[in-house]
Amino acid sequence: MNATNAMNAMNASELPVSDNPDWDSGTAELGHLLKPGELDLSHKVVLYLDEITVSFDGFRALNKLSLAIDAGELRCIIGPNGAGKTTMMDVITGKTRPDEGKAFFGQTLDLTRLSEPEIAHLGIGRKFQKPTIFENHTVFENLELAMKTDKRVWRSLLAQLDSAAGDRIAETLQTIRLGAHADRLAGLLSHGQKQWLEIGMLLMQEPKLLLLDEPVAGMTDEETERTGELFLTLAGKHSLVVVEHDMAFVKQLGGKVTVLHEGSVLAEGALEEVQADARVIEVYLGR
Ligand SMILES: Nc1ncnc2c1ncn2[C@@H]1O[C@H](COP(=O)(O)OP(=O)(O)OP(=O)(O)O)[C@@H](O)[C@H]1O
Ligand SMILES: [Mg+2]
Repeated sequence: MNATNAMNAMNASELPVSDNPDWDSGTAELGHLLKPGELDLSHKVVLYLDEITVSFDGFRALNKLSLAIDAGELRCIIGPNGAGKTTMMDVITGKTRPDEGKAFFGQTLDLTRLSEPEIAHLGIGRKFQKPTIFENHTVFENLELAMKTDKRVWRSLLAQLDSAAGDRIAETLQTIRLGAHADRLAGLLSHGQKQWLEIGMLLMQEPKLLLLDEPVAGMTDEETERTGELFLTLAGKHSLVVVEHDMAFVKQLGGKVTVLHEGSVLAEGALEEVQADARVIEVYLGR
């Protein structure tokens, strides 16, 4: 029985209801702008924060923060503890609502009006410091579980889809350099390898923008360097925003650097430029 016949044989109530407007857009009430993949990059800017303010009991963690990230860019964000770096990521991912300001994903999508799942679905992936992998599953299975599967499609009946998924997993295994470990239990990986696996799991969701908060914390020097190489291969295809305190790593990435301080941008430019900035030395690098 081929897939079409199999689908016909199924209970009609279990089939995709193609004329239901909610099926293809998880956010139908917000109209045409929010269909997955309809990111408007016509002005080459993937993310634009416009005067974002976040207050916690009157304390301004973000203070009219404005920032633009180009499509395909690899941007590093540095700054002292408490500067607002993680809070900025919380705003982008919808975890924290700003008191003021807007956050545009592409030209048209205002993230401050969307929920966390909607934002993730639009293609913003975030890596937290502690990997959230399934330790009792193999590396391969972890990637499989992370795949953006359409629950309406009966994957087991669609052999083609499965082989395409297999190709994607193989490609991701190669990207994160865990090809030789595909059948190992994730729990047995080194700290660095676990971090790469989590990045691989994010990649399975095909994110357009990746947010990485202190991704090399706790890694060996060699793992850190390999992570830098990985990010450099991801840039271009994806846009990356990397928060890090490790200056050797920031130097390896080589892109534009934004220095946050007290919830706003203190300086921006090449690492050598911001490292030579007297204000940056005073609040951060000179400590
Ligand atoms: N949920 C919260 N409630 C109250 N204050 C908060 C909350 N989240 C963050 N803050 C405060 O906001 C400020 C910015 O914190 P944030 O975590 O964004 O800094 P950071 O730049 O990521 O620092 P670090 O380099 O230490 O990670 C800090 O003073 C922090 O204590
Ligand atoms: Mg932080």
